[in-house]
Amino acid sequence: MVVANRRILIVDDYPQLVSMLTLQLNGEGYEVFTASTGNEGLARIRDGFTGVVLLDINLPDLGGLDVFEEIKRISPDLPVIFVTGHAALDLAVEATRRGGFDFIAKGSDLAKRLNVAVKNAFDRVAMTEQLNSLRTQLSEQGQFSEFLTVSPRMKQILRTLESVVNSGVTVLIEGESGTGKEVIARAIHAAGNRKAGPFIAVNCAGIPETLLESEMFGYEKGAFTGATSRRAGKFEAAHGGTLFLDEVGELPKSLQAKLLRVLQDHTFQRVGGTETISVDVRVVSATNRDLMTEVRDGNFREDLYYRLSVFPVRLLPLRERPEDVPILAAHFLRRFAREEGKPILGFSQGALRTLSSHPFPGNVRELENLVRHAVIVARGNEITGEDVGFTLGSHRLPTMVPESATPTPTSLDPSAPLEQRLKAVFPTVDALATLHDVQAAYLQLAIQVAAGNVSKAARSLDVGRATLYRWLKDDGTQGPPP
Ligand SMILES: Nc1ncnc2c1ncn2[C@@H]1O[C@H](COP(=O)(O)OP(=O)(O)OP(=O)(O)O)[C@@H](O)[C@H]1O
Ligand SMILES: [Mg+2]
Repeated sequence: MVVANRRILIVDDYPQLVSMLTLQLNGEGYEVFTASTGNEGLARIRDGFTGVVLLDINLPDLGGLDVFEEIKRISPDLPVIFVTGHAALDLAVEATRRGGFDFIAKGSDLAKRLNVAVKNAFDRVAMTEQLNSLRTQLSEQGQFSEFLTVSPRMKQILRTLESVVNSGVTVLIEGESGTGKEVIARAIHAAGNRKAGPFIAVNCAGIPETLLESEMFGYEKGAFTGATSRRAGKFEAAHGGTLFLDEVGELPKSLQAKLLRVLQDHTFQRVGGTETISVDVRVVSATNRDLMTEVRDGNFREDLYYRLSVFPVRLLPLRERPEDVPILAAHFLRRFAREEGKPILGFSQGALRTLSSHPFPGNVRELENLVRHAVIVARGNEITGEDVGFTLGSHRLPTMVPESATPTPTSLDPSAPLEQRLKAVFPTVDALATLHDVQAAYLQLAIQVAAGNVSKAARSLDVGRATLYRWLKDDGTQGPPP
């Protein structure tokens, strides 16, 4: 776990407020830097400030939103908390809509709100740093940094793949739907010496045979009704680059023969043409069928199979690399939270448990959609098990673990901070109970777990017996002491 620094930059021109905030934040153990104008603040950030920024929305020199836009440009991950007078609330709302982390209004509860906002912002910093370090780790480990994985088996596969990116041999990517076949195909192109050339994708499924042929190989004028002029196909378009044949298992038999010829001698003819065209194209193909079975069943030419799969790659389904679920989920969360402009920091324990027990028949794409949906329905600054469960439920997918099925580790772990244990019980605003109800239920609980022993219950609540009796009596739920 990366430990974030505890630096705060206050950009504000009102000295009394700055001293007050500094004092409070120093007291909480933060290191505070100050700037009294927008330009001074920006200069610090350009100098490489990392941490959290408290930004006054009314600055003497620049507009608060302009300063914010500039900060985002210099350092997009820097959380910015706006400090505003009540008059500027509209601005503050607009600022958070544009990706500001939070805003706090000057006023009586500023101090309290400040602590919470700052703490959340540092949680975000920690999460960002964790992700960035993961990314560095990933990019250090190979050229396929777009394909996020921490699975040792997947990493091994990627390492062997690295050896062929420059060679031009055909690569056949097999894997269930949504496992990232297209991501890999693009990564192979981007990592190799053809990267300056085009990457052209053809989907071989769902297109009528004749259309597919002219799509792949182009046609001459008059080749068929409607062919009013000559058109180049995808093979020509991919010259000097990579042609990605998606769902190659669906390729009709007649086209299989034509494709085989291109792979053998790099030449073909356009539909309706006689001219022999030669191209320099690297072919990467993908299939979510077991192509060998198709060969055995006589649906796919064996010779073509071997031509296409000089270098075969099989992507593991997500259920066989469960260790990838949290990092992919965090990656998608970050992206969608930013897109939706929601300050969501992470997943609750319950959410992670639900995610890790889901089998993901739709693999990474399903996880991606699920996180997108959960971000949209989430109300707090954390994705809860309910958000995930709701999403799974609305897609009518099996196996979700209800939040309450088993107590969460946090709710069980007596050493977890109270705040966390409470969050396990009241994960959303809607789930909050009134103070009165909480107190009544809590007193009942204390008596219950103390097996009816009021003295013991009072000790555990750190109140006197008399107080506890009075409370119980006030609440009317329990008789007075004997
Ligand atoms: N390892 C990964 N890291 C980041 N994103 C991924 C990864 N794997 C898949 N994705 C994302 O998941 C989605 C599905 O991936 P992709 O389209 O490559 O799957 P596919 O195997 O081609 O699926 P299909 O067989 O259904 O076409 C995409 O949005 C992709 O960006
Ligand atoms: Mg695909």
